[in-house]
Amino acid sequence: MKILGIETSCDETAAAVVEDGTKIISNMVASSQSLHAKYGGIIPENAAREQVKSIIPVIKEALQISENIDALAVTIGPGLIGSLLVGVETAKALAFAWNKPIISVNHLIGHVYANWLASPPSFPCIVLIVSGGHTELVLMKGHGKFVWLGGTRDDAAGECFDKCARILGLGYPGGPAIETAASNAPMTGSDPVQLPRPMLNQNNFDFSFSGLKTAVANALNEDSPHLRPSLSSTFAYELQEAITDVLVTKTLAAARRYQVKSILLAGGVAANRRLREKLALMVVSCKLNVELHIPPVQLCTDNAACIASAAYFNYQPILWSKITADPGLDFSRAR
Ligand code: KG4
Ligand code: ZN
Repeated sequence: MKILGIETSCDETAAAVVEDGTKIISNMVASSQSLHAKYGGIIPENAAREQVKSIIPVIKEALQISENIDALAVTIGPGLIGSLLVGVETAKALAFAWNKPIISVNHLIGHVYANWLASPPSFPCIVLIVSGGHTELVLMKGHGKFVWLGGTRDDAAGECFDKCARILGLGYPGGPAIETAASNAPMTGSDPVQLPRPMLNQNNFDFSFSGLKTAVANALNEDSPHLRPSLSSTFAYELQEAITDVLVTKTLAAARRYQVKSILLAGGVAANRRLREKLALMVVSCKLNVELHIPPVQLCTDNAACIASAAYFNYQPILWSKITADPGLDFSRAR
């Protein structure tokens, strides 16, 4: 079965055709990120305008390789309302015009299914979903069978990268900027900057990242990175270590507690090389007998292939007229 996925929840306009939930036939992504870089963050109105311009060309490109599709899938939330509406209304119109089934997909579940586009994981799994707006740790017992274990109490991990990059003058989007700056940090042997590891030793699966942003801002007040450029890379390095230490430690604790067969990474922050490396190293050094699944970088950030895959494995078409964008959709109403 070939499904055309459509994803427009934030600043990417994406369309993809995926066969049987695992084989990518086409995968197109247009991003308005460079536009937002000028402002240091996303202006929702501008993102929605760009979605309108890109949606039809992107869908046409995705369909050039495979015209015959059996169904459509579209992200209904969570995300920015203006952006979501463009994808949702386009998908509904196409489902009606082509008389094809349509499946609505939760963006966060979509991220999880990036893992099925590489090699299918064994259940049960622990999934760490880390994106710009979400940090969730979930137990996945089967397709569509999720038990939410914990999440952030304030800022998401990606949000922390983005906000700290802004404070450090490193630009937008913050995650890749912090990663690059961190790789240029001088290895002095001493530890000039120390940031907290929030909630690391608490016996729960919750996170808190907003304090890190304050810690960075306070530490900076004592020293200006503009006067000493190497200092911003030192901060970036320590920030990346702090965030990844907490994410990896809690993920491994959940894997141990629930005796899972696999650990899955998902979401834009999963593109971070240090997070990928640290998780792999810790799985080995803790002698955890689990499969570790980390999707290719281009499938971690927003794309429509994972939306089509999620729809295939949770195939529940609904009437096109019943589909509505839901910007505040959370994990508990997962689909
Ligand atoms: O999943 P995603 O593309 O969009 C949302 O659903 O939010 O995630 C975007 C987030 C942003 O916060 C961005 O800074 C972060 O993912 N990100 C990264 C990296 N690439 C993207 N964070 C750390 N390291 C990266 N390499
Ligand atoms: Zn996303």
